[in-house]
Amino acid sequence: MRMRSKPSILMKAASVFLVLLLATGCGAFDSGVAKEYAAGNAEAEDEEELITVGFSQLGSESVWRSANTESVKNAFTRQNGFLLEFNNARQKQENQIKAIRGFISQRVDYIVFSPVTETGWETVLQEARSAGIPVILVDRKISSPNENLYTTWVGTDARAEGEKAGLWLEQYLVGKNISSKPINIVVLQGTTGSSAQLGRTMGFDSIADRHGNWNILAQQSADFTAAKGKEVMSEFLKKYDDIDVVISQNDDMTFGALDAMKEAGVTSGENGDIILISFDAVHEALELVQQGIINVDVECNPDQGEYIMDVIRRIERGEHVEKENVVEEHVFTKDNVNEYIDSRTY
Ligand code: AHR
Repeated sequence: MRMRSKPSILMKAASVFLVLLLATGCGAFDSGVAKEYAAGNAEAEDEEELITVGFSQLGSESVWRSANTESVKNAFTRQNGFLLEFNNARQKQENQIKAIRGFISQRVDYIVFSPVTETGWETVLQEARSAGIPVILVDRKISSPNENLYTTWVGTDARAEGEKAGLWLEQYLVGKNISSKPINIVVLQGTTGSSAQLGRTMGFDSIADRHGNWNILAQQSADFTAAKGKEVMSEFLKKYDDIDVVISQNDDMTFGALDAMKEAGVTSGENGDIILISFDAVHEALELVQQGIINVDVECNPDQGEYIMDVIRRIERGEHVEKENVVEEHVFTKDNVNEYIDSRTY
């Protein structure tokens, strides 16, 4: 481990001398012991060169989240020169704060974390700053007037994703010749107060605001999970019998919503009763796009591990890093899904 307080040169010299002494057979131990000691020492030296990263993942609520965790774990390996401390906060801000404090007391080299909600981070991030540990936000953002609380952010542009969904709907309704008819919309939202929920909502609303005939009947959080997606969609279906469009802010909620629709005898997609718009674009959802059950899936790219690693390497070399680093994202419909689906690993 690359500790913040390094061992003194004197200590290092003493250990090298001891290894030489043992290896040349001048000591009281045999050469097997000497080799073992030397190997152990080399490993310890290697450990010192590793960059330690404390990663607080917000939870494991979705297929997307598991892919994001994998991406980070695959990047921060010993082979790549890192020692990763991983913590799953199970969707609770207090768990993330506790994990970050733990990383500070371990004196890791970098803190990487995906904030479950946008607010409430000032105190703990100030503590990291005082300890001189750079903080890298991933996936989601924080909202604070103090930009110095973190070094950089690597993630997805949730507002742009919401806009893409709105723009797709605009075009679709024109194509179907129903752009001036009343359009009733319900929204399954992600975790309340998360930048993914806030951004996607703002982005979609900015397009909806242009259309007096788009009527948002209800918006409710289903916490980015399939179980809650089903629960909330069942309630919507009981309450409204005239839903034209479902906006589901992630694929897991979409899977749950589809279960609820099935139970209610309602269909979705290109030939269905309801236009279904989803976010994330995980493999299982892309299959439903292929089958025409989900009309459009706006990608949220979880492959962020390599980007974060690259950012850390640039910081290590003393290079400038942008405050915001947005990963690339696409929009999938039946027209282009075949090109991408085979390479989708999550
Ligand atoms: O912050 C990204 C969102 O969080 C993804 O859309 C969702 O699946 C996840 O839980």
